Amino acid sequence: MSQYHIKHLEEYYQVYRKSVNQPETFWAEIAEEHFVWRKKWDKVLEWDFEKPEVKWFQGAKLNITENCIDRHLQANGNKTAILFEPNNPDEASQHISYNDLHNRVAKFANVLKSKGIKKGDRVCIYLPMIPELAISVLACARIGAIHSVVFAGFSASALSTRINDSDCKMVITSDGGYRGAKTIDLKGIVDEALESCPGVENVLVAKRINSDIKLKEGRDYWLQPLLDEANDHCEAEIMDAEDPLFILYTSGSTGMPKGMLHSTAGYMVYTGYTFKNVFQYENNDVYWCTADIGWITGHSYIVYGPLANGATTVMFEGVPSYPDYGRFWEIVEKHKINQFYTAPTAIRALAKEGVEIIEKYDLSSLKVLGSVGEPINEEAWHWYNDNIGKRKSPIVDTWWQTETGGVMITPIPFSTPTKPTYATLPFPGIQPVLMGENGEELDGNQVEGKLCVKFPWPSMARTIWGNHKRYRETYFSAFRGYYFTGDGALRDEVGYYRITGRVDDVIIVSGHNLGTAPIEDAINEHPAVVESAIVGFPHDIKGNALYGYVTLKDTGEGRNQYNLRNEINQIITEHIGPIAKLDKIQFTEGLPKTRSGKIMRRILRKIATHDTSNLGDTSTLLNPEVVEGIMANVIE
Ligand code: WTA
Repeated sequence: MSQYHIKHLEEYYQVYRKSVNQPETFWAEIAEEHFVWRKKWDKVLEWDFEKPEVKWFQGAKLNITENCIDRHLQANGNKTAILFEPNNPDEASQHISYNDLHNRVAKFANVLKSKGIKKGDRVCIYLPMIPELAISVLACARIGAIHSVVFAGFSASALSTRINDSDCKMVITSDGGYRGAKTIDLKGIVDEALESCPGVENVLVAKRINSDIKLKEGRDYWLQPLLDEANDHCEAEIMDAEDPLFILYTSGSTGMPKGMLHSTAGYMVYTGYTFKNVFQYENNDVYWCTADIGWITGHSYIVYGPLANGATTVMFEGVPSYPDYGRFWEIVEKHKINQFYTAPTAIRALAKEGVEIIEKYDLSSLKVLGSVGEPINEEAWHWYNDNIGKRKSPIVDTWWQTETGGVMITPIPFSTPTKPTYATLPFPGIQPVLMGENGEELDGNQVEGKLCVKFPWPSMARTIWGNHKRYRETYFSAFRGYYFTGDGALRDEVGYYRITGRVDDVIIVSGHNLGTAPIEDAINEHPAVVESAIVGFPHDIKGNALYGYVTLKDTGEGRNQYNLRNEINQIITEHIGPIAKLDKIQFTEGLPKTRSGKIMRRILRKIATHDTSNLGDTSTLLNPEVVEGIMANVIE
């Protein structure tokens, strides 16, 4: 039996039990046998969820890129590491071998050094899904710089907030990007963002769309000429186990996004180990995760996890609908994809297009299908299972978070019997618990509560960059001594977990986490707006869509609601990005509030979902009279 590669359900239970009963021995064995270290650790784990503080593999020395690249060169140097599939199907795919990747990362790392980037410096990466994105991430890791990738769909304002919060010295971007039939002017967005980012010294610009952009003298440089001159050897910086690897922002309950900080050794061990098992990756498999590297799924399961296992990982630049809705399946056939990992929102969008388009393609290479980012509804699960997996490829419904670094609750394909809408069982090393209303652990099966984790795992985020207090308050104060996920879940009669959704003010729209507060803050900046409240409502494709209640200063007849709706969405687009636009906007005379002045979102949520039979007792509200008016004007 290999505890690194679980192949039967009994083996899973055996490994799981060991991971709980002897966590330190367990993780030390995984780390020692499957990763390379410059020096072994002195102590496997030290932790305290009160502070909170978690340290894994203290005293160890390593570089994650030696694990992800160098160690594969001797046996697999010519194997494809990254298979790049461009937006335009007529453009050739690129097979970047481990040897090529090694040289390109070294060159890029030397360019970073030549521009003054050192260990511990923060580098913001704002790139489309082109090879330079993965390469720049690895180049930062090579020299110990902390990367902060910002999804290239964020606006200039969202970008500058993130650059300033972590005090990035450099931005890596491109002249633009292709997304389906559109091109996106990334350099223009960076220029606008940098008007309010005094700390950025240099911008490196990759060429992708050959647009006519301007370089700011002394600040901006085309990347390629620098790479052409750079040496293709770069000694890896030797890092401590707990040195920071990257910052990745996620939405929270205030306007400021949370810069989740991940450290090196634990993150590497956990993403590598989960990748191997969750996808049952075998040596010659071709693995494809459709996420963007701007999100945690891309960090852990396009870049680090697959490369740590010497896998071939596909990077797709485009969108599922371009040039038509057969694109995903065309790519599966073309590259004989074995493992395919996507989001429920994509599955629902593709399901809507019917099955004829799928039948044109040979999907027989597929072995494992994955789902991530939000609960997968039963209908989408069956569609995926019937039409893509042809009922022979298990679906791994993987529950996890930016904060957890890696997959936490998931079936092990071919071992764990799957059940639609259930993420099933905890991965080895993970100890989930459900908490009741009074903060007690709910024992036994067939219970529902708030999902917490009671023991540390190697890839948990260590803090929020620059704000440890917020880290403690957000994740470790709702239930003392536990990590609180923000999700609700239930456990069925056999101990399988089903995630029921967020229990806080984060709404997941098309798989993107959106905090309601930042959207409301943006809307409230409109001069005509007094205040606003955002709630989610179910949407066929997006999972949830946003419903905004907006109170205006001028309640007269003359207001032009159509323009105001556009302007509100425009402000949201400017502050956050188009992903946060509202589907429905209702103008209200006021918002229902508690006597302490808190907006009663529970009532607004019920009204938006037309579930008004049981609004609860509204008489305790400060202003019960507004509820009638809101109900009367609800948008269908
Ligand atoms: C939700 C994405 C149900 C959940 C990796 C979580 C899921 C949030 C699932 C984190 C799943 C993710 N089933 N819900 N399989 N996967 N979620 O940080 O609410 O972008 O807390 O990380 O997505 O989203 P994030």
